[in-house]
Amino acid sequence: MNKNILESNFIREFSNVIDRMYLLGWDERNAGNVSFILDEQPLAEYLDLSKPGRLYPLQINAKPLAGKYLLVTGSGKYFKNVKEDPKANACIIRVTEGGSDVEILWGLQPHERPTSELSTHLASHMSRLEVDPTHRVIIHTHATYTNMMSAITDLNEKSFTKALWGLNTENIIIFPEGIGIIPWEIPGNGIIGKNTAAKFKHFKIVLWPLHGVVACGDTLDATFGLIETVEKAAMTYLTIKPYTNQKLISDVDLMRLAKAFNVKPNEDFIQ
Ligand code: 13P
Ligand code: ZN
Repeated sequence: MNKNILESNFIREFSNVIDRMYLLGWDERNAGNVSFILDEQPLAEYLDLSKPGRLYPLQINAKPLAGKYLLVTGSGKYFKNVKEDPKANACIIRVTEGGSDVEILWGLQPHERPTSELSTHLASHMSRLEVDPTHRVIIHTHATYTNMMSAITDLNEKSFTKALWGLNTENIIIFPEGIGIIPWEIPGNGIIGKNTAAKFKHFKIVLWPLHGVVACGDTLDATFGLIETVEKAAMTYLTIKPYTNQKLISDVDLMRLAKAFNVKPNEDFIQ
């Protein structure tokens, strides 16, 4: 007898983080999507993994992820409803051996599909796993202040990052790589996925101007915490913008911070 999957830690953590993002106002309606790589062993306690699932084709080839299981939000699903009913709003998929499809093993109705950004997520997972074997999570969310900031600042990775590093003492410690930025693009298409995945080779958070952010991490908490930190800095930036005599942490002090906390800041942004 399989255990009740709704009581599993992975469903609970996934639902909680999504609910928290909704309550922060980042995920109105169906805004945003989350994917979380699951280990086979604990999953097998809840699902019969010998059964094939419903095939769903990908826009990309995800062969490097063949056999991997992911918990993913459904397309068009409202974040506000995920915690109440994870099975109706998310699904568990397995990447097929050839990498051109996924099997939907659990969750969603037969006519429903995983997020329209599934290929963006899978391309991003592939990119991150090449640089970090502990990587597991991709979160796309319409983080309010970060998005607002993208409307009024230069979309330059160095100046955007340094504006945020300079405002809160711990920022350079939490995101020493800085913020990657891609040009504005239509969501759900192959280009946005390819551009995002390329940025994930160097950054852990990527800004989609006038849309939101995509972030990665080895846990849901770490990924959420990264977005939360960037978002707070963007809120600080916008709140103090009208004031004169603003102070920023100097480059010298940013480097002292990095040294004290043993992080290596992006050399293209600060020496
Ligand atoms: P989905 O509902 O298909 O996940 O799309 C939401 C979104 O934010 C697209 O960028
Ligand atoms: Zn979006």
